Amino acid sequence: MGVIVAERKTVRYAHVAGWGKYVPTKVVTNEDLSKSVETSDEWIVSRTGIRERRIAASPKETTATMSFEAARQALQVAGVAPNDLGLIIVATATPEYSFPATACVVQDMLGAENAGAFDLSAGCSGFMYALAMGAQAIASGAQSHVLVIGAETLSRIVNWHDRETCVLFGDGAGAVVLQGSDEPGGVLSTLLRADGSGGELLIVPAGGSHQPPTLDTVATGQHYVRMNGREVFRFATRVMDEATRKVVADAGLTLEDVDLFIPHQANLRIIQAAVRALKMPMDKFFVNLDRYGNTSAASIPIALCEAVDAGRIKPGDHLVMVGFGAGLTWAASVIQWGVPKPPVPAWRRTLDGLRYVAAGVRSRARRLRRRLGAVLFGSPEPRTIDEGAHRPERVTEGKLHADAAPRTTDEGMPRTEPESLAAPPVEEPRAE
Ligand code: COA
Repeated sequence: MGVIVAERKTVRYAHVAGWGKYVPTKVVTNEDLSKSVETSDEWIVSRTGIRERRIAASPKETTATMSFEAARQALQVAGVAPNDLGLIIVATATPEYSFPATACVVQDMLGAENAGAFDLSAGCSGFMYALAMGAQAIASGAQSHVLVIGAETLSRIVNWHDRETCVLFGDGAGAVVLQGSDEPGGVLSTLLRADGSGGELLIVPAGGSHQPPTLDTVATGQHYVRMNGREVFRFATRVMDEATRKVVADAGLTLEDVDLFIPHQANLRIIQAAVRALKMPMDKFFVNLDRYGNTSAASIPIALCEAVDAGRIKPGDHLVMVGFGAGLTWAASVIQWGVPKPPVPAWRRTLDGLRYVAAGVRSRARRLRRRLGAVLFGSPEPRTIDEGAHRPERVTEGKLHADAAPRTTDEGMPRTEPESLAAPPVEEPRAE
């Protein structure tokens, strides 16, 4: 019997070669929230450390458009072209649609012609899960460049009348480009964990296949985030400590070797509990939740970008990133930071801008070609009995629903345009 031996490439190190973030311009302070729900700046700051958050007030700010902005920055820093990407992973709990994946929308906006793309759902741990997947794809030799994004528009699934949740969350996106290299370093270790028995502690009950959306689910607000805050708090404080110790040991390091901890930015008290449990100084923990609140899967990559900008990360430094969230899930990673990048020249930025315009033209041309093809040649007829069995009229026992008529997907899904989000119109958040 013949044995097929797949061509093996050498195991490589996954380095963070680029990083980028986008946060909406609209700032909502605790004071603003106290005008719409019974709360106060004093209560929110003392219980969470959050002072303000960014809200996607413009309809142009969506999970995909914010992802795109973060991604284009990350690609620019890395000096990597969209066509070099082999994989795009978007970690999000607030995707653009149930399907197609937000990652596919981003792939189209970037014009990343050679990339596979999928979304990853692991709550606030999503970015850490996606980072592990990306790093493993590179270590296996399967990929050379992976774009990993954490992005959320939580403001659109938060009940602005529920003071127990609406004060906690914010919107934004962060991205990194992972690049394969033979130089030791990059992602040194990862840890992924889940405990589905705690799923109901942090959940959006309706809108999925378990409870499809109905007038009743909307009337009773079951399409909004529901949370048992105390239980989530207890869970988070327990796993931060354990996960950090394990992932550091797996990297062959000690806690003292760690230069900077970048924890999920949910609650300052949870971070302080981790500081105490790990017996590390507070100034080794990067905190920006006072300005952004909990941006779920976006929180760690946004914090990473700000830590770089603040000069808190030097080449050779060891970073620990640790996240926790809905699922329940938790995840951690140790990264050895790479070499500094030369500044991106202006011509390169211009070229990148043109590249995204070209991607838009290509995408529109493809949609047009599909439409013309449908008009000129019609829909393909089923050729086998099995294919025929899946026709809508069979499924509905002879009654063809009006909406079962063939349509192009373009009718329901306009192309998301990668136009600049730099100055979105400022509107009030939907907190009336
Ligand atoms: N303003 C004023 N009062 C509020 C409030 C708000 N925004 N939200 C809740 N309260 C009230 C509660 O109704 C409760 O009132 P009661 O005692 O009359 O019933 C009271 O404050 C105390 O609630 P308690 O549960 O003791 O507060 P806490 O110290 O646990 O803090 C959280 C609440 C939500 C801040 C905290 O539990 C937490 O951060 N949990 C983790 C949440 C999280 O991180 N989720 C995302 C994970 S990825």
